[in-house]
Amino acid sequence: MARKRLLTGLQPSGQLHIGNYFGAIAPFLERYEEFESFLMIADYHALTTLQEKDELNTNIFEIAVDYLACGLDPTKVVMFRQSDVQEHTELAWIFECLVTVPFLMKAHAYKDKVAKGLEANAGLFNYPMLMAADILLYDAELVPVGEDQRQHIEYTREAAHKFNSVYGNVFTPPQEITLEKVGVVPGTDGQKMSKSYGNTIPLFGTRGEIQKAVMSIVTDSKSTFPEHVHAIHKLYKDEGKLKLLYEQNRENYKALKEALIEDIDTHSTPLREKRQAVASNKTDVLEILNEGAQKARELAAKKMAIVRDKIGITL
Ligand code: ADP
Ligand code: TRP
Repeated sequence: MARKRLLTGLQPSGQLHIGNYFGAIAPFLERYEEFESFLMIADYHALTTLQEKDELNTNIFEIAVDYLACGLDPTKVVMFRQSDVQEHTELAWIFECLVTVPFLMKAHAYKDKVAKGLEANAGLFNYPMLMAADILLYDAELVPVGEDQRQHIEYTREAAHKFNSVYGNVFTPPQEITLEKVGVVPGTDGQKMSKSYGNTIPLFGTRGEIQKAVMSIVTDSKSTFPEHVHAIHKLYKDEGKLKLLYEQNRENYKALKEALIEDIDTHSTPLREKRQAVASNKTDVLEILNEGAQKARELAAKKMAIVRDKIGITL
């Protein structure tokens, strides 16, 4: 029997942080070898918010390096760039013609932007249908994502249902995989850790950068428990050891933060070293992306031939 397909995507929109790692990268690395896996660099998604040519260009390469540095085995996954496979934008358009404007207006990325009084571009509005195309083009049944992406997988299922009910069965609705124990990793200010909030602990940060970030984690002076420090530390230490540490250092926030710095640094040091080695081999990284693009193109072309036929544009 053919193995199930698993696919995830990450936007090349800036330096990775530990929230990305525990929310998206680690769950992917934990499971990808069991399946036929795809890892996509969502550069067209990044274009909805990043319109700096050089920055986007650098980020695309950097995120490929990041994944390889985290231990991804490129022989066991198809790693590719979204923009290398034209069928993604083509299929997104077809889905956009099937779903309604009020439906897309309820999508978080768009709603949040409007709620902040900002003007959203049409790309951001259509974002969930490009994501649906990313997943459905490869018949991926499993999609590891962080908690905040759950709604987009619901939108993907809806796009699949809409298409199937109008044109006949072509797409399999996918299922998200989220790690309950991780949930949403808090940033140094207690909000969700996010590149766009400037509250991150960088995944490949130097000890100095880690130290600076951890020392700035907010603690409530009225409370006797440093909630956010603990929530982050939970990702690095098992429950028993963490409990002991907190008992031994009750209300000593400085000591608790120092212990956290130590644990993050121990985890990050080998990642940093591996990253340096990978980044120094630029041609290898480009080769991996080229191979990935070829494989992805083959599969996408086959699926799109079926779709084109179904919608009635094949003469
Ligand atoms: P950011 O908010 O930093 O821009 P992205 O939106 O690019 O992050 O998210 C990339 C992946 O990392 C997604 O799968 C997302 O769910 C996950 N992720 C991002 N921030 C967190 C967080 N604070 N906790 C858990 N997962 C996260
Ligand atoms: N929207 C996702 C994010 O911001 C990235 C993404 C794009 C993705 N296409 C995808 C994730 C397909 C999973 C599957 O994190």
